[in-house]
Amino acid sequence: MSGEAVEPAGDAASLPAPSPAAPRLRRLGLADSIEPTADRFPRLSRLLAGAASLRGSGELAARCGTVQSVRQNTLIVDGLSKWSNLGDLLRVGDGDEAWFAQIIAANPDTVVAKPMTTAIRVKVGDEVELIGPIKLFPSQGWKGRILDAFGRPLDGGGPVPAGHHRLDPYGPPPEAMKRERIVERAITGVHAIDLFVPVCHGQRIGIFGGSGTGKSSLLSLLANTRGFDTIVIGLIGERGREVREFVEDKLGQGHRNATVIASTGDEAPSVRMLAANTAMLAAEYFRDRGERVLLIIDSVTRFAHAVREVGLAAGEMPVVRGHTTLLYSSLSQLLERAGPSEGGGMITGIFSVLVDGDDHNEPVADAVRGILDGHIVLDRAIAATGRFPAINIPMSLSRLSDVALDREQTALVRQARRLIATFEQADEMRRLGGYVEGADQYVDMALKLVPQIYDYLTQDVQSLEQAGYDPFARLAAFLAQANSQPPAGAGRPAEARREGQAVPLQAQG
Ligand SMILES: Nc1ncnc2c1ncn2[C@@H]1O[C@H](COP(=O)(O)OP(=O)(O)OP(=O)(O)O)[C@@H](O)[C@H]1O
Ligand SMILES: [Mg+2]
Repeated sequence: MSGEAVEPAGDAASLPAPSPAAPRLRRLGLADSIEPTADRFPRLSRLLAGAASLRGSGELAARCGTVQSVRQNTLIVDGLSKWSNLGDLLRVGDGDEAWFAQIIAANPDTVVAKPMTTAIRVKVGDEVELIGPIKLFPSQGWKGRILDAFGRPLDGGGPVPAGHHRLDPYGPPPEAMKRERIVERAITGVHAIDLFVPVCHGQRIGIFGGSGTGKSSLLSLLANTRGFDTIVIGLIGERGREVREFVEDKLGQGHRNATVIASTGDEAPSVRMLAANTAMLAAEYFRDRGERVLLIIDSVTRFAHAVREVGLAAGEMPVVRGHTTLLYSSLSQLLERAGPSEGGGMITGIFSVLVDGDDHNEPVADAVRGILDGHIVLDRAIAATGRFPAINIPMSLSRLSDVALDREQTALVRQARRLIATFEQADEMRRLGGYVEGADQYVDMALKLVPQIYDYLTQDVQSLEQAGYDPFARLAAFLAQANSQPPAGAGRPAEARREGQAVPLQAQG
């Protein structure tokens, strides 16, 4: 990504320090015809003299507006529509009391701005200064730090070194034809993922599950993988306590190599939206330096909720479950930025999606699933049995498994998936008394082997595998037990019995 080179700010935050001397000329007008009488209007006279000396800089007359009305969640500001763009920042108030709002809609005479803080003091007639687009200064110094949506430190670890380039957190995705192809598999160390939902460098994958099914825990497991040069974690809309727990308890040693961008659920929705984009910007920054980045965002749903609040405040019509069409554009703009770019760096994106009411077709889950290259489905019923990560294997898939796995591995996985599908059907039937052991050898084999496979898939944060482990050797060992059983007439699968053939399990793939 290219960026306009500017002097680095003293701090990584893009927010300029409040400037008491900022000219406030909007309401004065600069017409030559005004000839104030210095004696009668000394203050006006001084301001106009100052204005005259600054004339020609073009932007000055546009810098300030006035609060025209205040709503619960928005400000209407007049005088800035001609000069501002969507997404621009406004500063309200002076000095320590200054706070920021972001323009979310514009009309011919007014702009609608959403405060970027929840505690605001403002009244009609207050002056508002136009700051312009949000720009951030990511740097290598972001690694190992916990930052807010503006790139300011949250960890008490001192100032964050600013980069030399000013970058737009809402930047565009790489052009489709300029992206490198995805060719290399990434080993995560999580058995269930490496076997059944294999991930490649540059792939984008979602973790879908209801509340409390273990999404964040699985992400923290993944955040400790070793196969990436750097890790960027966006904690969006999380509970305040979870941010600290995540970093201190779950991230462990991986912390030094990770950049955490956090925006808790009590922050303004425009800040939560920004935080997800800042995390993406940080990932892009490292990718553009040739690094293999793992980007984790927990959760995309809370980002989508922030988008919903902003869209409604901007006056967009709700189209589905209160979401406006802004949902679809914001999601694709964010998620499409992950992946490979030209130059060798890659962003592998893993995004959690809270499936409201365990309805996997709800709009956010549906939209995200359509954009990503694979999904891992977490299942409340599996979590209830204590098997974590509670991945529902039959429902989870990677659209790049052909790239990730060789022929032998693909055959093993297909065979195991088939056994698992048989187990899931037969286990329920058995529990209801509808299946008696011995009736079908293949089903018996599934009932014997799949619990062993499931045991192998159970992992907590401490049991993450290191590079070099081979889950396929273990899977092959499990399946070898099945293949060593000679098919007996009574015990063969129903369709094989009908055709009068012996069906070795390997042929099932
Ligand atoms: N690998 C694991 N090993 C043991 N327990 C786990 C594991 N993963 C999750 N759990 C249990 O599940 C609980 C919920 O996990 P987690 O907070 O990760 O869920 P979540 O899906 O992120 O929830 P939310 O939707 O509220 O964000 C944890 O408190 C823990 O008890
Ligand atoms: Mg969570």
